[in-house]
Order: sequence, then structure tokens, then C-alpha cells
Amino acid sequence: MKAVRFHAYGGPEVLVHEDVETPEPGPGQVRVRVAGTTFNGVDGNIRAGFMQGPMPLELPHIPGLDVAGTVDALGEDVQGLSVGDRVLGFLPFVADGASAEYVLASADSLAPAPRSIALADAAALPVVGLTAWQALHEHAGLQAGQRILINGADGAVGGYATQLAKAVGAQVIATASARSSAQVAAAGADQVIDHTAASVVDEVAEPVDVLLNLAPIEPEEFAALAALVRDGGVVVNTTVWMPAPADEDRGVRGIDLYVRSDAAQLAGLAELVDRGQLKVQVAQRAPLEDLASIHAQAAAGTLHGKVVITPHKR
Ligand SMILES: NC(=O)c1ccc[n+]([C@@H]2O[C@H](COP(=O)([O-])OP(=O)(O)OC[C@H]3O[C@@H](n4cnc5c(N)ncnc54)[C@H](OP(=O)(O)O)[C@@H]3O)[C@@H](O)[C@H]2O)c1
Repeated sequence: MKAVRFHAYGGPEVLVHEDVETPEPGPGQVRVRVAGTTFNGVDGNIRAGFMQGPMPLELPHIPGLDVAGTVDALGEDVQGLSVGDRVLGFLPFVADGASAEYVLASADSLAPAPRSIALADAAALPVVGLTAWQALHEHAGLQAGQRILINGADGAVGGYATQLAKAVGAQVIATASARSSAQVAAAGADQVIDHTAASVVDEVAEPVDVLLNLAPIEPEEFAALAALVRDGGVVVNTTVWMPAPADEDRGVRGIDLYVRSDAAQLAGLAELVDRGQLKVQVAQRAPLEDLASIHAQAAAGTLHGKVVITPHKR
């Protein structure tokens, strides 16, 4: 099969499109014919070798954490899945990923893919959708009527977080650059602040219950945003290289989120998509052989929105 792998850590040029043996599923595993995978920001850090401590890889390695595709072969002891099923998953960091025509996945990590959108596009859901879900429901415990400030709402996680927070009945204040403010408003934000043109701190009129930070900001800016959180509120942060500021005196908790795979939550997100309650945003679709170029655009800071990678011609 065709796959993109890196044989050594380094810049985007270490990614090579090459022939690789098609993997055979072991016990409890299925082989998925990949319709789509995506680029996530962490993929660049993994490829560069920055994540070798928490994520030790055996090289060569095939990147690609998200997968949407069809079950193609079953290993022993697999229950509940059949060849041809449309599935969705968040693959383990240390196993070979979905930037290939086929990938192995543990059967119990997979969820049914939504039926109302193209299967490849469903790959834009697992990692970032689960991040948004876990931020709001597991960490922030967001409730109807609460106010949430989502910083970086124009990104991939932010698009889902905005929609999911509105579904809870929260009031959403979102930051976005002018280029994407209409899109963030369409996702349901009650107030959109262009962080490139105004001071976010000045524009937030009342304290918020929750600050969800999704943007790579400076520690001083983060502390100023955290000061907008009411006493007893919570700061949830996904840019974990910079810790979430807590304030013990005011009872403000600071939580650094590490997303985890959860098939039941993923199935719930797919159902929301099929009920028309969650829109999947795809900015760009690219063939597998363009993956190195996508990594290069991300490294140059010119990649915006979710990119779906499609390994098969059709
Ligand atoms: N810890 C975890 O488990 C976990 C899981 C998922 C994601 N993440 C991380 O969480 C972050 C968000 O993920 P994502 O996939 O949504 O990334 P993304 O699509 O790149 O979104 C980040 C957003 O932040 C915006 N932004 C940049 N600088 C800003 C600033 N100073 N103020 C306000 N907004 C700013 C960007 O806008 P422009 O495009 O206009 O620059 C972009 O829309 C990434 O760093 C990602 O690596 C962590």
C-alpha cells in the first residue's frame, strides 16, 4: 500500500510517500481502508522529535491520528464490527497512523461514522471534536446560562467548542480574527471579538464562568484573560506547553487538557452531526502525497482550518 512515513525526526522534508507492506490485523484489531485522515498541530511536533519523551516512537513511523474509513478486515476476537462498516477513530499516538491507504485500529476504539457527510470529511471530527467535548463537559462542567470565553474560536477545536457550548445553553464570547468572524458567529457565538483589532480584556463586559484557551498566547496575555474568570470559575487550556493560570485565593481552577480517545463520546459526536446539531468544518482536502507540503504550510504559519488528507484517489 502507499503510505507517508518518516524514517528520522526533522522538518517536513523527512516525510516520504512510499510503498509499505499492508498491515494484518491482530487479535481485537480491524484493518480500516482509510477514506480520510487529517493534519493536527501535534503532528508537526511529533515529526520534529519534540514529543519523544511522552510519545516514544519506533521509526519509521506513519503519522495521522484521525481516521475515517471502512472496515476492511477483521482480526480474531472482534465483536460488533463487520467488513464494510463505516467507522471513525482517534488512533494511539505511538502506533502507525492513518496517513496510508490502510491502518490497523483496536476495534473497541472505533465509533460509527456519521452518515450525513462524506466519509473522508468525518476525519475532521475525532481529535478536535473530542478535545472540545472533554474541555466543556469533563473539565469545565459547563452549564446552561453560564458565560464562556473561547480564545482561538476560529480554529478547529474552537469551531466545535462554540457549537457544543451553545448546545448546552451557554453564552459564548469568542475571539477570532476578522477573516473568520462571520464563520464563528455562524457557529453560534453571541459576541465575536477580533483579537487583532481590540483588547479582548476590554471587550469582555462581565466576568465569565469558563475561559477555554485554544490559542498560542504569551503568559502575560493568558494571565490577563484568566483574570476575567469569576471567583470559583475555571480555566481550561489546550496549549499545554504554557500552564493554565490558577488562582487559589479566588478559587479559580487551572486545567491543562490532554485529549484521550473515547469511542462512546465519539459516537455521540457523530450522532450530533447526523441530527444536524454539529457542523463539521473542512477548510481543505489534499491527496496523501501532499502531506509534506501541508506540514510545511503549518510550520510556516500559513495553514488555517482543518485539512483532510485522502489516501485513495476515490
Ligand atoms: N492538549 C491537547 O490534548 C490538545 C488537543 C487538541 C489541540 N491541542 C492544541 O490546541 C490548540 C488549538 O487546536 P486547533 O486544532 O483548534 O488549532 P488551530 O486550528 O490552529 O486553532 C488555533 C486558533 O488560535 C488562533 N490564534 C492564534 N493566535 C491567537 C491569539 N493571539 N489570540 C487569539 N487567537 C489566536 C488562530 O487564529 P489564526 O488562524 O487566525 O492565526 C487559530 O484559529 C493547538 O495549539 C493544538 O495543538 C491540544
